[in-house]
Amino acid sequence: MINFIDIEDSKPFHELKKLYENACKHNQDYVEAMCIGSYSLRNKEISSRFVNLKFIKNNEFYFFSNYNSPKSLDFKNHSQITSTFFWSRINSQIRIKGKIFTADKDISDKHFLSRSIEKNALAISSKQSEKISSYNEVINNYESTLNFLKNSKELNRPDYWGGFYFIPYYFEFWIGNKYRINQRKEFFHGDNGWEENILQP
Ligand SMILES: Cc1cc2nc3c(=O)[nH]c(=O)nc-3n(C[C@H](O)[C@H](O)[C@H](O)COP(=O)(O)O)c2cc1C
Repeated sequence: MINFIDIEDSKPFHELKKLYENACKHNQDYVEAMCIGSYSLRNKEISSRFVNLKFIKNNEFYFFSNYNSPKSLDFKNHSQITSTFFWSRINSQIRIKGKIFTADKDISDKHFLSRSIEKNALAISSKQSEKISSYNEVINNYESTLNFLKNSKELNRPDYWGGFYFIPYYFEFWIGNKYRINQRKEFFHGDNGWEENILQP
């Protein structure tokens, strides 16, 4: 689920919320999954992967990850990203371009503490996307961290795990229709606020 908190009062944000509510009404699986595209300045290549969008606060889209992971290094060196949703139950795609930032520490702390100890044990024990000799070693690292956490008095967020948020400057809403007569609408944030265009399918 995506939590909408005091979202920006503008057409693209209302459009997004309306589509989201419709997708939920139609029991869309993984409704919060979005594919984030990033650019690695070092490797001169683009990568994409899914993450879970947790909440939208005003015009900021929040998700959480490991700060040492490849995506996080991409974000640090090249702050322009893309984000794409596909909600199959309502045959709708939403494409977003935005600028990404690191979340405030208190937002990351609050989110970390709201999660189960099992999820946090994984966040702590995994050096995300680094090589390891076997899956058994992953399980061993995880179980020893979980045991440690269960026996410790307090739980602290590690500084290598936390939130990111991006602020969109572009949206495209794509609504599939029969014979590919799809409806497409884009919004671009220019000097005079959001500009809207209809696109051909
Ligand atoms: C539906 C779905 C949701 C995911 N959500 C997250 C997430 O919220 N945060 C995260 O770090 N990885 C998430 N992952 C795993 C990422 O896709 C990816 O494997 C991982 O973050 C490493 O990416 P990187 O090597 O590009 O940094 C998710 C995967 C799927 C399939």
